[in-house]
Amino acid sequence: MKTIILAGGQGTRLYPMTTVISKQLLPVYDKPMIYYPLSVPLLMGLRDILLISTPQALPLYQQLLGDGSRLGVNIQYAAQEKPQGLAQSLLIGESFAGGDEICLILGDNVFYGHNLTSVLADARSGLEGASIFGYPVKDPQSYGVVEFDAQNRVLSLEEKPEHPKSSYAVPGLYFYDNRAVEIAKHIRPSARGELEITAVNQEYLRQGQLKVTLFGRGIAWLDTGTPEGMLKASEYVEAVQSRQGFYISCIEEIAWRRGFIDSEQLCRLGQEAKSTDYGKYILSLVGGCV
Ligand code: DAU
Repeated sequence: MKTIILAGGQGTRLYPMTTVISKQLLPVYDKPMIYYPLSVPLLMGLRDILLISTPQALPLYQQLLGDGSRLGVNIQYAAQEKPQGLAQSLLIGESFAGGDEICLILGDNVFYGHNLTSVLADARSGLEGASIFGYPVKDPQSYGVVEFDAQNRVLSLEEKPEHPKSSYAVPGLYFYDNRAVEIAKHIRPSARGELEITAVNQEYLRQGQLKVTLFGRGIAWLDTGTPEGMLKASEYVEAVQSRQGFYISCIEEIAWRRGFIDSEQLCRLGQEAKSTDYGKYILSLVGGCV
């Protein structure tokens, strides 16, 4: 399975910052927003990643993350000239995916919590068609909304409905079999002129191949789309990290725990950032870093 992270667009709700910088480079508490979605493929053991952003922001991402080898992964880059919809990322990523299964993640989605790795592994296992998630929210109108029956079979899926049929939003994390690119090629732009990811998922639903997994109470899915959302996400990360001492989405730590890099390399990465608490945390993970 290959991973596509979409981190382009203008993030209009965070104007004026996002007219000069890609929103996903802004910090959520102590690290760039992009670290949070990037931690998902690393947790899942997926090492081939395509990061899509605006032509202006791509050089900044390249400076930040390079080719991924420092983390023992392979990161490639591609431009989305205009934000013409989330499903466009599947078209941009066609040759990168090379007919493999795809994990698509939106660059402004933050996931954290108990058993996250095994919930993701279950949702992916035996993938036939598409696998999406559902998360209860107070304002489902702002999201893709999934309706399902008592056996968790999907009944309907709607993008930002005025009258939602359930209170379950669809987070920006999707697993697809190798037909996603072909399906994306055949959908038409929506009323707001975008190739909607919901349209791709609706096609899988029509074919009876859309599975939904509900995130329980133990998992946090945070919105970073508004100033309030960014502040609350930062406060959440700060509270968990200072209380538990574990960092959320420390990509160096995850790469090391997954065996992508050895302790020597982890020490090296920690040394580079040793003047910060983030670097000190990395150094604290292994004994004997000098
Ligand atoms: O966050 C989950 C929601 O994401 C889902 O529930 C919805 O079904 C899905 O459509 C999407 O809704 P949003 O309204 O949050 O999407 P938005 O247009 O804000 O885009 C999400 C991020 O992706 C944002 O950081 C900008 C970036 N983006 C967006 C578009 C349309 C791109 O990089 N390229 C694009 O073409």
